[in-house]
Amino acid sequence: MRSHYNTDLNLSNVGQIVKLCGWVNSYRDHGGVIFIDLRDRSGIIQLVCDPQDNEKAHEKASKIRNEFVLIVEGKIRPRGEELVNSKLKTGEIEVVVSNLIIENESAVPPFIIGDESVNEELRLKYRFLDLRNPKLYENFALRSKVCMAARTSLVNMGFLEVETPILTKATPEGARDYLVPSRVHRGEFYALPQSPQLFKQLLMCAGFERYFQIAKCFRDEDLRADRQPEFTQIDVEMSFCEQKDVIEVAEIFLRDIFKACGKEINTPLRQMSYKEAMEHYGCDKPDLRFDLKLIDVIDIFARSNNEIFANIAKDTKKNRIKALKVPKGDTIFSKRQMQRFEEFVRKFGAQGLAFIQVKEEGLKGPLCKFFTQEDLDELSKRCALEVGDVVFFGAGSKKIVLDYMGRFRIFLAQELKLINPDALEFVWIVDFPMFEENEEGTHSAMHHPFTMPKNIDEKEIEDISSIAYDIVLNGVELGGGSIRIHKHEIQQKVFKLLNIDENEQKEKFDFLLDALSFGAPPHGGIAIGLDRLIMLLSKANSIREVIAFPKTQKAQCLMTQAPSAPSSEALRELGIKLREN
Ligand code: AMO
Repeated sequence: MRSHYNTDLNLSNVGQIVKLCGWVNSYRDHGGVIFIDLRDRSGIIQLVCDPQDNEKAHEKASKIRNEFVLIVEGKIRPRGEELVNSKLKTGEIEVVVSNLIIENESAVPPFIIGDESVNEELRLKYRFLDLRNPKLYENFALRSKVCMAARTSLVNMGFLEVETPILTKATPEGARDYLVPSRVHRGEFYALPQSPQLFKQLLMCAGFERYFQIAKCFRDEDLRADRQPEFTQIDVEMSFCEQKDVIEVAEIFLRDIFKACGKEINTPLRQMSYKEAMEHYGCDKPDLRFDLKLIDVIDIFARSNNEIFANIAKDTKKNRIKALKVPKGDTIFSKRQMQRFEEFVRKFGAQGLAFIQVKEEGLKGPLCKFFTQEDLDELSKRCALEVGDVVFFGAGSKKIVLDYMGRFRIFLAQELKLINPDALEFVWIVDFPMFEENEEGTHSAMHHPFTMPKNIDEKEIEDISSIAYDIVLNGVELGGGSIRIHKHEIQQKVFKLLNIDENEQKEKFDFLLDALSFGAPPHGGIAIGLDRLIMLLSKANSIREVIAFPKTQKAQCLMTQAPSAPSSEALRELGIKLREN
């Protein structure tokens, strides 16, 4: 129907007759001349309906309202110099309308498209209207481009795209499953895949050697800004490979994806051990766009004569005392800010937030009296303190201290505006522990039970590490993977350490164990969270902005009202009776 998209047009088209289609974004009547902002998926262009140019078009224009669908013909003319709108791509031109068709009317929309002050719930309820916002459209254009680049890159490297089932059996990614009742097999349920993990390993057993899929995954877990119950992975698996081979493949397709989006990344990407990430940044997904490293000072505090700190410092395995220096902090932070810092860390389990200020005359603060001058000098040296700095201390159990000091690090960086929003700081986190201790003292697999251990015969379970790797971008876990176990005896050792007995093995993973017993090749892979990748590339605040029809934090779709109660007929057919509690 149209001759151009709106934003295809510019000064070079002046004088041309064009035919455009779109929606009324807004309109204004200026003393008889009606100006319309016409929106299509590319953006906005200004239409002018002047009764002096064309009476009929002007008369029709007087009937339009927001979101009416128009088809217009007209001539492009330049806007007067003082009328140029530099905010619009088409701001130097306008269309003098000669023919205007109101193709469809619209009910009064519940909000103005693109109005950022509208609350998200309303926008999600009318998602089809919200998606008319060209800014949101751009996220999906980017998403489509990324999928295309990922496909091309992986196909060029010899990967084969294969689809795996959605109605399946539980997969071991650690979240709750979404279950689907079977009508034919009453009382039995399918599980939606938390990832294609088991199937991609089966494809390796099948000899496919290089597989990928842009795969839907489903996880019933607590939702956050970067988590949805239904999300997409760029999922990859390959045979006859080591960790370095998977990392190389991932770096190639990430580089190709970023290149397609006009961004260069330099490979090989930096690598950091899990231990270093935890000890220096307090988490396994460090944001490296800014410095502020945590510094270990437990040995210095062990020598202090403050009973609380000295006691904590006695157990260097379970506890940590970390320093976090803010250069020139003493000169920038007000007393009130310092109080807010303490309130912040308390939310995450800190007992308080001790600090020392660096003055001309030396270190100052209530803590100082507990140290010898030598130890204060040692503290200054280790933290490279300079006049004007302030250094904060976190002390207590390892898990809690690393968590709140890691969060505090990010909080400070935001307060101090240390984060360059355009930076892309990738890091591979490697050498993960194989197991993690649960609250009840038992162990579970940190990645999943099919991850290849590096040193399975280590005496202490906590010293066993795995051949697993995560890729982190700007403090967000973008993806993760591992080399898998392909040998029966190693798998049995891991199951034993996880207390997964033969019955449980049979019940949960029978088919995979079976497949692994028929000549499984060495294999490994990775999955990149596509939604998170697009969120970072588009600088969106939440993953919901890059998913066409997302769910709320409470896992509801406000537009379709899903989930909803099934009819009693459907329940009867499925043989399901709902319990009161
Ligand atoms: P993992 O569980 O680490 O690994 O998931 C890989 C990546 O998927 C993304 N992701 C999510 N994105 C949005 N919402 C969620 N709820 C969500 N959960 C995960 C993250 C994450 O890094 N099968 C393994 C991969 C492998 O070993 O090959 C797996 O799924 O970006």
